[in-house]
Amino acid sequence: MIKSLHDYVYNAYKPAIGKKRHEIVTPALILDLDVAKRNIKYMADYLSKMPADLKPHIKVQKCSELAKMQIEAGAIGVCTATVWEAIVMSRAGIEDVYIANQIGGPAKIKALAQEAKRGRLSLAVDNKQNADDLSSAAKAAGSELGVLIEVDVGMGRGGVRSVDEAEDLAQHLSKLPNLRFLGIQGYEGHCMLEPDHELRVKKAKQAIDLLGEVIERLAKAGFECRIVSGGGTGTYNITGADPRITELQAGSYVFMDNFHGSLVPGFSRSLTVLSTVFIQHGNTIIMDAGRKSIGIDLAPPTMMEYPDYQARFFAEEHALFDVDEKCKLKLGDTVELTPGYAPTTVNLYDAFHVVEDDVVVDIWPIIPRGPGHNGILGG
Ligand SMILES: Cc1ncc(COP(=O)(O)O)c(C=O)c1O
Repeated sequence: MIKSLHDYVYNAYKPAIGKKRHEIVTPALILDLDVAKRNIKYMADYLSKMPADLKPHIKVQKCSELAKMQIEAGAIGVCTATVWEAIVMSRAGIEDVYIANQIGGPAKIKALAQEAKRGRLSLAVDNKQNADDLSSAAKAAGSELGVLIEVDVGMGRGGVRSVDEAEDLAQHLSKLPNLRFLGIQGYEGHCMLEPDHELRVKKAKQAIDLLGEVIERLAKAGFECRIVSGGGTGTYNITGADPRITELQAGSYVFMDNFHGSLVPGFSRSLTVLSTVFIQHGNTIIMDAGRKSIGIDLAPPTMMEYPDYQARFFAEEHALFDVDEKCKLKLGDTVELTPGYAPTTVNLYDAFHVVEDDVVVDIWPIIPRGPGHNGILGG
């Protein structure tokens, strides 16, 4: 992160260092470091026996400390979703930063092209107009951008829609200055939403087969795909095990959350939101971590200590649980909630409270949402 902002956030939160995990001001984002390290090691060990390398998607963690931990464990770089995340990662010293997404809009394209003078940056493209804009900006900045053609493998989001379109775009890219063709991306996000494992394997294989067709067609046309990038936590052991994939983009495996936890075994929950029971009426307990403090998309958050209770509702600042006599929580108690979805939890906070042996040992700032996009725009 830009150093002055990193230091500002660190200093604002550092009074929490040395406190017990249940003593910090709520709602607070807690990272259990031992669990996160175990998850990182588990993935690194798995991939060390597989053909693909890990380029973790740090839109999940938005934190340079966590990016570096994954690189130390063997990751070859990071993926990001936004140009601002990419710039922060590049300035934090990450050598290979891939924006696994399209970047549109002149200010963002200019910022990216400027940054590419300092570090190795690449991104996904799926149309000629965007490629032209990227090429012009890189030429004006005197930099080079790596590009991967994104192929829609079934999600219906970004990506060329056919093998023909992929070849046509590759031909177009080859005529543009200051862009370097590196390969293709196919993110099978629709498979992450498939709860049935067998069906997920089938759908993921179909997605990779489509990438295989594109690889072959491009090879015939003289374009070598050195990078074939895809996959997430829900398909890490399908996509990551396929010899056609060179880079796996999984990111949520570091934290896990209720959505990813139900998809794949092997990893544990390292991320929680500490909350306080601040209202209690009869069997209803209400914590101070509502939708503005915890990601509720894709799966509902649960209490770490009492995972069997389902929340009734998440208001903006209230988490409502109806409990029974088995729940011993009372007014004033603190409760750790497991996010439904970690990526949309992290961005609600300024920093992780990093905990070891139940004590806060460090503060790790999260890439901020503004103002002025981290001081990068015009800075
Ligand atoms: C393009 C892309 N790649 C990879 C991922 C990472 O997936 P996960 O967080 O499930 O590991 C995502 C998540 O949305 C994504 O959009």
